[in-house]
Amino acid sequence: MAFPEQIDDPPLKHLFDVSEGAGLEQEGVIRLTAGAPGPSLLQACSEVFKQAWARTLEKCNDVNVFQYGIAAGSWEFREELSKFLTESYGESVRRSDLILTCGATHGLQIILNTLLAPGGMIFVENATYMIALDVFKEFPSSSIESVELDANGIDPEDFEKKIMQWKNAKNWITSEEKPFWAMLYCIPAFQNPTGTSLSHTRCLRLIELARKHDVLILCDDVYNLLAHNNPPRRLFAYDRPDVYTFGGHVISNGTFSKILTPGVRIGWLEVPPRIAERLRKSGILRSSGSVNHFMSAVVTSIMEMGLQKQHLELLRSTFKERMLSLMEVLGENLPKSCTFHRSEGGYYIWLELPEGTDAADFCNFSAEHFKATAYAGKYFSKSKTSCMRLAVAYHVKDDLKKAAELICKALHAYLK
Ligand SMILES: Cc1ncc(COP(=O)(O)O)c(C=O)c1O
Repeated sequence: MAFPEQIDDPPLKHLFDVSEGAGLEQEGVIRLTAGAPGPSLLQACSEVFKQAWARTLEKCNDVNVFQYGIAAGSWEFREELSKFLTESYGESVRRSDLILTCGATHGLQIILNTLLAPGGMIFVENATYMIALDVFKEFPSSSIESVELDANGIDPEDFEKKIMQWKNAKNWITSEEKPFWAMLYCIPAFQNPTGTSLSHTRCLRLIELARKHDVLILCDDVYNLLAHNNPPRRLFAYDRPDVYTFGGHVISNGTFSKILTPGVRIGWLEVPPRIAERLRKSGILRSSGSVNHFMSAVVTSIMEMGLQKQHLELLRSTFKERMLSLMEVLGENLPKSCTFHRSEGGYYIWLELPEGTDAADFCNFSAEHFKATAYAGKYFSKSKTSCMRLAVAYHVKDDLKKAAELICKALHAYLK
């Protein structure tokens, strides 16, 4: 294999200057692609950090903040996080179940490294978060199978069918260290890209299936707290330890990227005791001396000072307002042959164009002729190529409404 002598390394200041799918503010095209907060929300963050920074440095009489930390994350960080999550979810979160990470992507990688049998099976929702698919490609000995998803989340019957197809297909080599032959990666609340949430009945059924077939379920619970009303109960809370079938099959993978800001690179895993024990022994976590220890101290201050709660409320109400206005425009202007899911939180709206429409071609057409576009379904699924994802996180309300109007006009012209 030939390696290039030099790679393209343009002097970009930030991700959205150019880069794939972005170039968000270029050529006068409004791109509803980014799953990240825009400049006005980042500005508010800078005030939060100024205050917390001062407090963290005051606390630095305790020089240990500059030292390696303990593998699971500092006691103070996990204590504050458990209080914050317990209040925000309205359901108990135990400090001892929490492990500090550098964000949900890192959480996913740790779990793949530590718990899944080599070559273990990975089930994903059809459609799913596109970059998680890239993460899975870095585990090439694993097979990936997609499971159908509808307005109530992942379809348990299809899940069981796929489990049965794969379970006996191979001699899975599990061990005490890597106990799971298979993992389901899912986003149960305000899913990326469809905006759907897993119903109560399906949560119960998924737990039954995970226990029966010994499958680990990793939930990217990254949008739960961006609920327009009460946050949906996370699947982790359904995996109750008070019944004899309990084994601890669910992990809740959380992040400050969506409730504070992505640049901070702080997240957490909420795991059952047997997995907490395993993770605390992880060479990577131990050698890292708790990942991102100093920044976790800053985030601890943010939580202690009540700034996290305040900032989350700003994000939640801003995204709610934006999403409701976007859905209003779509409701009034979309061609009758198109439908969309009414999201009740998170960042995304999933638009279904008439079957057979090439959404990628439409997105290019819309950018070129109507100066507004979004991500085509092909990035999230092999089969949902007639769908597209609209994200509300980055642009301010007026730009979003304008983009939605333009996309609707483009659809009328394209589908004629
Ligand atoms: C479902 C999902 N998981 C993970 C991430 C990335 O999270 P983090 O920034 O914490 O790595 C995203 C970001 O868009 C996401 O949508």
